[in-house]
Amino acid sequence: MDKIAILFGPTGGNTEKAANLVARAFGEDKAVLIPVKNVQESDIMAFSRIIFGGPTVGTHTWSDPNQKNDWDVFLTRLYKMDLKGKSCAVFGLGDQVSYSFKFVDDVGTIADHVIQAGGKLVGSVDPEGYTFDESKAFRNGKFLGLPLDEDNEPELTQGRINKWVELLKTEL
Ligand SMILES: Cc1cc2nc3c(=O)[nH]c(=O)nc-3n(C[C@H](O)[C@H](O)[C@H](O)COP(=O)(O)O)c2cc1C
Repeated sequence: MDKIAILFGPTGGNTEKAANLVARAFGEDKAVLIPVKNVQESDIMAFSRIIFGGPTVGTHTWSDPNQKNDWDVFLTRLYKMDLKGKSCAVFGLGDQVSYSFKFVDDVGTIADHVIQAGGKLVGSVDPEGYTFDESKAFRNGKFLGLPLDEDNEPELTQGRINKWVELLKTEL
């Protein structure tokens, strides 16, 4: 079976830590970790299964043209890519306490771009166990991907990833 690409950004923080845990849960030889910064479309096209991971940090979701993080840049290219025939999933870092009305909004933003690019989105997650008011990632009673909260519930991250990866082994 071909390898799974895990596209993540930024590096050096909670998102990279989570990306590594997702890769480990599949088995190191089954996944390839690719920082989203400077990634080329050709780097992605070789994969039929792609996992995207990013934090919500209020830049592109808040449309601040002066802030450009790795995802701001990549999102301007993602929706134009051809992801037809590719199976995709999204995880996102967020903070349920400080950003309860924007909890993991970027999971919704990234998922919308994946769908616009023709990708098949899998790996939606039940909201049980999360406490939040609103989220762009929450549609029809489910999160479009896996929310992770390293700020308030770091002890739940590994279990959430393990459960999600088991689901992805059947859906992705
Ligand atoms: C400036 C800033 C804005 C943030 N905005 C949100 C937000 O809108 N929604 C949310 O769920 N989390 C928000 N967070 C929390 C981050 O998503 C969270 O801390 C995440 O773990 C950071 O990941 P990183 O270490 O890879 O950057 C924000 C954090 C910062 C610093």
